[in-house]
Amino acid sequence: MPLKSRITATGSYTPRKVLSNSDLEKIVDTSDEWIIERTGIKERRIAKDTEAASDLGVEASRAALEHAGIKPKDIDLIIVATITGDMPMPSTASLLQNKLGAKKAAAFDINAACSGFVYGLSIADGFIKTGNFKKILLVGAEVLSRFTNWQDRTTCVLFGDGAGAVVIEPTTEDRGVLSIHIHSDGSLWDLLNIPGGGSRHPASEKTLMEKMHCIRMKGNETFKVAVRTLETLVVDTLKENKIKPSQLNLLIPHQANLRIIQAVAKRLHMPMDKVFVNLDKYGNTSGASIPIALDEALRTERIRNGDYVLLEAFGSGLTWGSALIKW
Ligand code: ACO
Repeated sequence: MPLKSRITATGSYTPRKVLSNSDLEKIVDTSDEWIIERTGIKERRIAKDTEAASDLGVEASRAALEHAGIKPKDIDLIIVATITGDMPMPSTASLLQNKLGAKKAAAFDINAACSGFVYGLSIADGFIKTGNFKKILLVGAEVLSRFTNWQDRTTCVLFGDGAGAVVIEPTTEDRGVLSIHIHSDGSLWDLLNIPGGGSRHPASEKTLMEKMHCIRMKGNETFKVAVRTLETLVVDTLKENKIKPSQLNLLIPHQANLRIIQAVAKRLHMPMDKVFVNLDKYGNTSGASIPIALDEALRTERIRNGDYVLLEAFGSGLTWGSALIKW
């Protein structure tokens, strides 16, 4: 069997503080009913003031390493998928490496927004296949609450904080990552972005006043592109692997909106009991949503050895991607 990459362990961490829809009703002109009906979200977690992305990421990483039975010093590479890193530099992966004491590991971040975990998996898969890397820690960690405009009801109800981590190792068994597909359309960058704080609009009084450091989204347009793109993506991924939708044991979508998830499931004729959904508890945690969901799916025995699991994500960029895994 040729060398493949395999997720050998997972871990996740979500902050304790819960922000419910009724809490949001007191902040902006919204309702529990609207949020549930239009998104499926009931509550989300909010990091403590002292917690940044690397703090959430390190908790998820420690859990994943414990489940893998490996020590931080054994890790060759740390990749963190985040759009809400601790600071512009150094990378959140470097900060995480230090906190973990993973002295041997190379470390870098990637920015593919909500598709970050799938993009990160494709990078890790490539590194594993070179044969030079044996143990990779891939982390999705986000503190989106720091980049949320709490006066904008069209975005502030959607996002939450959290982290998920996976350990990726080589295998020659008949299992592991079967194929990964990543895509981007930068012409649609304007649908979803955080315009301030970079070299285009460096931090200034103006960027602060205009809340340019917060997420802006043309929600409805993004929604339509997401549904169309993801429907095609999942069908193509299965076709390329000669897997019928009925053979798929679990779909783990990025957790942005229940209606997007349902549309994709419908396109595959998949019943919702074969689709993992936890956005009701956490909202959209961007790059962290798939590894958190994956960890919960494993802990609740929704995934067994030999199962076909399909991951799919869509986010700012625009970016999108899928990964088919035989567990
Ligand atoms: N409470 C009450 N009413 C609201 C709220 C709210 N929180 N937000 C919007 N509305 C109103 C709007 O003002 C609008 O009112 P109007 O008709 O009087 O103008 C009405 O509800 C409908 O607004 P739409 O934006 O058309 O609502 P839609 O059904 O599209 O739902 C949502 C909005 C939930 C944002 C949806 O479009 C969506 O999920 N979009 C995709 C998100 C996504 O997948 N993003 C990519 C990943 S995220 C990342 O990469 C970081």
